[in-house]
Amino acid sequence: MKRIFSKKPINDLYINKDHNNSLKRTIGPVNLIIMGLGCIIGAGIFIVTGVASAQSSGPALVLSFILSATACIFTALCYAEFASMIPVSGSVYTYTYVAMGEIWAWMIGWVLMYEYLISASAVAVGWSSYVVGLLSSTGIILPQIISAPPGTGLINLPALFIILLLTGILILGVKESTRFNAIVVLINVSIILLFIFVGLGHINPANYHPFMPFGFSGVLQGAAMVFFAYIGFDAVSTAAEETKNPQRTMPIGIIGSLIISSILYIAVAAVLNGIVPYNLLDTPAPVTFALKSIGINWAASIVSFGALFGLTSVLLTSLFGQSRIFYSMSRDGLLPEIFSHLHENFRSPVICIIIVGTAAAMIAAFFPLNTIIELVNIGTLSAFIFLALSIIILRKQNPDIPRKFKCPLVPIIPILSIVFCSFLIFQLSHTTLERFIISLLIGIAVYFVYGMKNSKLRQCDTDIFNFKDINEIFDLLNSTILTILSQIEKIMRYKRF
Ligand code: ALA
Repeated sequence: MKRIFSKKPINDLYINKDHNNSLKRTIGPVNLIIMGLGCIIGAGIFIVTGVASAQSSGPALVLSFILSATACIFTALCYAEFASMIPVSGSVYTYTYVAMGEIWAWMIGWVLMYEYLISASAVAVGWSSYVVGLLSSTGIILPQIISAPPGTGLINLPALFIILLLTGILILGVKESTRFNAIVVLINVSIILLFIFVGLGHINPANYHPFMPFGFSGVLQGAAMVFFAYIGFDAVSTAAEETKNPQRTMPIGIIGSLIISSILYIAVAAVLNGIVPYNLLDTPAPVTFALKSIGINWAASIVSFGALFGLTSVLLTSLFGQSRIFYSMSRDGLLPEIFSHLHENFRSPVICIIIVGTAAAMIAAFFPLNTIIELVNIGTLSAFIFLALSIIILRKQNPDIPRKFKCPLVPIIPILSIVFCSFLIFQLSHTTLERFIISLLIGIAVYFVYGMKNSKLRQCDTDIFNFKDINEIFDLLNSTILTILSQIEKIMRYKRF
């Protein structure tokens, strides 16, 4: 039973990759920042701002954005270290496999579904709102029954449509190019700046009162919601191997893109709350809504159109990212082989992409945005906590592995990351926490029924329970779980007789 805590040997990953690595170091700080902005800016700023302001933060939404950005910066520094040390696909899933063992990696793979698959559903719902808005400005009114989930409608068909369309594109093996990403970033930043400059002249200071209508606890809840807007900075860390002078460039890229997006977000939040009373912002397309409410319809149309580009790009990245994670897990034997089966002509994991696309489309079609966003945040925040823990463990476990970028002040920064992320998790609703716990239990059940028996790591000699300090805490935790499991086994056996 204790094999479930087997760890992937880091040396193999590191050495193999280093020898075969033919990636050229071409990415400088500016390109890295652009790459980060491409992954970060999307549904968060164009959609979540409205709900968060109306339901939690009020005009103090700017404070929520600052709090959330702080948590992200601590986590981003941890990401940068891992990416420069273990440059393989699979992101935090692989890091956890190396640092903490198989069952933890499985759980991370499971919760990463929230950051990628469910996040794709959220972005698709936002995409749908912007399309509905654009169509209505041309006189085409989509009935609510086919453009909203049960509750306000019956099915969100535009959201379903865009996910299925992009799933088809991914099957053909189309990936985003750096140039395409740069264009999307340019469009996104331009429309955000357009909104800020057009809106500035229409600010009514009265709209900032009361500043915190739901108190400081509302601001904290808002921070947990708008955290969604920052998701994506982790993708920057995956470029560590292609970055020039990563020691310097990685922190500039990660922190730079986070700071720029934070500034843009804070400015948008300030203008948005200045031109529309916060209680009117409970709308799925708040930025366009605000512009229309001050009668600037031309800017509203430009923003809607531009936002669609940003949303489509984030959507494509999320669907692609999820299929890559399932692909990695399948290669490790933790998911059925069908997930890593490549199509003969397209060389893409077709069945995996279809499963991911269908699941994301179903969620987008039938669930409301709030519910989806909270689930994405809780899953991503949990993954970030594991990531920070892994940093502390690997510093103890493998201090000599070369790190092209080192997170400063370890263990203080990872601990701060854990504290901030945990704090944000507890700001989310009880229903979300319950749903998340139920999902984790289902994940554990799937692992025991399938992953544990089929893991390919079984053939390897991996190091189990042989580290000191922080590892002892994990060993203690692991052996406690083993004891509980063996007790359950005994009870089951007893019942059978
Ligand atoms: N940060 C990404 C977005 O806002 C997930 O769409």
